[in-house]
Amino acid sequence: MDEICGPLFEWYDKHKRNLPWRDTRVPYYIWISEVILQQTRVAQGYDYFVRFIEHFPTVEELAAAPEDEVMRLWQGLGYYSRARNLHAAAKQVVALGVFPCTYEGIRELKGVGDYTAAAIASFAFDVPKAAVDGNVCRVWARLFGIDVPIDTARGKQQITEVAQALMPVEYAAKYNQAVMEFGALQCTPQSPRCDECPLAHKCVALATGRVGELPMKSHKTKVVPRYMSYLYIHNGRELLLHKRTANDIWLNLYELPLIETPSPIGPEDIFRVPDFMAWHAMLPDAVYEGATGTVKHVLSHRVLHTIFYELVVSGPLPCPEGFVVVPFVELEHYALPRLIEKYLEEKIGR
Ligand code: ADE
Repeated sequence: MDEICGPLFEWYDKHKRNLPWRDTRVPYYIWISEVILQQTRVAQGYDYFVRFIEHFPTVEELAAAPEDEVMRLWQGLGYYSRARNLHAAAKQVVALGVFPCTYEGIRELKGVGDYTAAAIASFAFDVPKAAVDGNVCRVWARLFGIDVPIDTARGKQQITEVAQALMPVEYAAKYNQAVMEFGALQCTPQSPRCDECPLAHKCVALATGRVGELPMKSHKTKVVPRYMSYLYIHNGRELLLHKRTANDIWLNLYELPLIETPSPIGPEDIFRVPDFMAWHAMLPDAVYEGATGTVKHVLSHRVLHTIFYELVVSGPLPCPEGFVVVPFVELEHYALPRLIEKYLEEKIGR
């Protein structure tokens, strides 16, 4: 073993966490864990993984499930396109008749990018392909003092080349797991444990005082603000929901009736917004119970500024086209964005 992988593997054997997807070669389990962990920390992803596998023990069961059920299980994890893609890819696998066993074959599955394909291929089938995620980028950028921004194609490519060159082909799975774990536990974004690092003597960033600076990012991602006024229209037993169909955020999740405006609108002005006036006209006897303050909700490419307005209707709820009337007791069957679920939890102790 070379002078990097030697100390790295020794460190890994001593410090690795026992995680349920580490002791398996079943590609389906590994795939689910990698998709969950793409934008989610292990501590949060763990329970979701266990629940998901219990609920859908095989790829056939996942493929056969209604999408709402998959979304419901994913609720709270965010990045819901992951769940939709997972469901679509499960159908691809079932159509193939077998889980693909090559990097290229796995990469064809919906929602599977370079990183996930390399992770599954190496963990399940020992394919010697370096898996490069944020943790891995950080480790190699620091160790070799690579200062090309890692959120650019050139930076990604450079790190991938380094990661691939260092891979001992007979230990593909262990190598990928070890680098990732090293990034997650030792070479952390903030306060890395350099004083007890087995690679400290080789680390360019440490030697040049640039540990805090590396890896570099270009910060080119643009964040768009959205102003969303939600209407909680209910009669004490039922409420109105709407299934999102716009392919921007939360596709196919359920939300409260929404009024979106190009600029911030508060309770002082909402009664002058035509869409709000239209709801008000449809609910002439509704009692306005007030509004919450603005809550800022940060997604990867958007900042949502949201306010909730409560309107209480005394009789049956009207059900305009595109909406559903949902009894409170059936809310648990609907996948809601976390933001809305939290509001409803406070209101009706869902
Ligand atoms: N993050 C992404 N994939 C992971 C894995 N297999 N183990 C631990 N953390 C991870």
